[in-house]
Amino acid sequence: MSRTVSIVGAGRLGRALGRALRQLGWHIGPVVTRSGAHSRAAVRAIGGGKPFATLTSEVMDADVILLATPDDALADVARQLAKLAGRRCRGKVVLHASGALDDSVLRALARCGAATGSIHPMQTFTNNSQPNLKGVIFAIEGHSRARRAAGAMARALGGIPVPVTSSSKPAYHAAGTLVAGHALALTEAAAQLLIKVGFTRAHAVVTLLPLMRQMLDNFEKHGPRAAWTGPASRGDYATVAKHRAALRRYPREFGDSYATLVRLSARVLAKNPRATLKQLERALKNSRRKSQ
Ligand SMILES: NC(=O)c1ccc[n+]([C@@H]2O[C@H](COP(=O)([O-])OP(=O)(O)OC[C@H]3O[C@@H](n4cnc5c(N)ncnc54)[C@H](OP(=O)(O)O)[C@@H]3O)[C@@H](O)[C@H]2O)c1
Repeated sequence: MSRTVSIVGAGRLGRALGRALRQLGWHIGPVVTRSGAHSRAAVRAIGGGKPFATLTSEVMDADVILLATPDDALADVARQLAKLAGRRCRGKVVLHASGALDDSVLRALARCGAATGSIHPMQTFTNNSQPNLKGVIFAIEGHSRARRAAGAMARALGGIPVPVTSSSKPAYHAAGTLVAGHALALTEAAAQLLIKVGFTRAHAVVTLLPLMRQMLDNFEKHGPRAAWTGPASRGDYATVAKHRAALRRYPREFGDSYATLVRLSARVLAKNPRATLKQLERALKNSRRKSQ
């Protein structure tokens, strides 16, 4: 198994994976960001590697090159790296960490002989957390040799590699974004509503977290339909209308999201989505009349 990795783009994900690999005994090669201060800080956080503030062909000295830049920078980084490294690409494995993009974004490197692919842990990485990767799903995609290397890296990190086809990646990643980024926005919107009605932030947080944890527990143990509570699950459509009307006093996105999400609940949770959606549309229309 490869034990040498260089990291291009060492932000939240690059640092976390770099640190975990170093702790497993991997040798960390060049660590590239866009500034000297950031690359030195990344090397300190990882606990190894050589900092660079600009791309260097030394990156290609490692067996595996991990590109963990934002998605939008990947094609450009691949082109620059291919130009710098030329024949040194041959025999190398280059993996990017984007959830939505496939290996075609690295075609410049594939053209000069690298095996290209992607490795995406379905986990959220922030600046101040080092999530446990045990049991985390890593989507693996790309050239067969790149997939083998990505699978070995995922298993070494305690994760479970799962092959995902190139064309499925945007939908696969949208699923993760719904429950991470979007659920976070929902949680914060709910906290802001409670704060508006007089709760302190600390009180709002302890109010919402047990509710969310129990909902997740019910989802895991009993399945989505049994876990569904709230007015739409009971057919309390007048309450849905009241909620929607009350949210008109808040920024537009609050009420729009409520209406969209209650429709989504009907679509994915109701026994008879068409009938439930019909009732909901009536309730949402009534809420407009009530607030006029
Ligand atoms: N964060 C997550 O939870 C998570 C989870 C799974 C997968 N991913 C994937 O991991 C990748 C990185 O995400 P992130 O959240 O870690 O991003 P991030 O925290 O914004 O870090 C991006 C890093 O890339 C560097 N960078 C940007 N443009 C560059 C360029 N042209 N050349 C070299 N380095 C460049 C930045 O340098 P500076 O530090 O100098 O700005 C920074 O170190 C994305 O593809 C994302 O989809 C992220």
